[in-house]
Amino acid sequence: MTTSPTEASRFWDDHHTSRRPAAEPPANVRLVEVVSALEPGRALDLGCGDGGDALWLARRGWRVTAADISAVALARLAGRARDLGLADRITGERHDLAATFPAGPFDLVSAHYLHTNFPLPRDHVLRRAAEALAPGGRLLVVEHGSVAPWSWNQDPDAHPAEPQVPSLDPAMWTVERADALSRRATGPGGQTADVVDHLLLIHRTP
Ligand SMILES: C[S@@+](CC[C@H](N)C(=O)[O-])C[C@H]1O[C@@H](n2cnc3c(N)ncnc32)[C@H](O)[C@@H]1O
Repeated sequence: MTTSPTEASRFWDDHHTSRRPAAEPPANVRLVEVVSALEPGRALDLGCGDGGDALWLARRGWRVTAADISAVALARLAGRARDLGLADRITGERHDLAATFPAGPFDLVSAHYLHTNFPLPRDHVLRRAAEALAPGGRLLVVEHGSVAPWSWNQDPDAHPAEPQVPSLDPAMWTVERADALSRRATGPGGQTADVVDHLLLIHRTP
């Protein structure tokens, strides 16, 4: 678990400090689309940020480990969980996922928009996420496939054109979905734009 501040954790602490998210931030649309069909169990939210996904999962009966590099994000989520009566279902853990990873097993590992300008070995993190699944569990990864006008990262080369599937042993994990999906999104100032999501859904063999 991360204990000392790094350049990356300071960047993300500043990012979260500069924002004023809602008391109960909305869950990501792809999480709601995919996970509404699943039976609640143990969930891990990687890069939980404002915590909308963790709160939504907890409300549906999941026991959630919410991991983030930012102590600011985790402290806010703990406060929200207390205010909403969900504190007993959400545990925050501070990790720089480039270095450490929460202990499993989990029935669901979810990583939504886990993008950063600092080194984060994506394949390694996604392999650890797949390994942290209980038999029959699912890994849901949603990443930007386009740059929204309000994104903190306006680099046009920041995102690949197609969903990137990590290399995993097909005897243990099945790639159920690897989709590029368009949707109309709303930014923090209420502005709208068409964006692309890359969605991976990976199932661990029961
Ligand atoms: C773009 S935000 C996405 C937040 C949230 N999942 C969502 O969909 O709104 C990326 C999140 O990942 C966290 N993060 C960035 N680098 C990280 C790392 N190396 N380890 C753990 N979390 C990290 C940031 O603090 C931030 O909360």
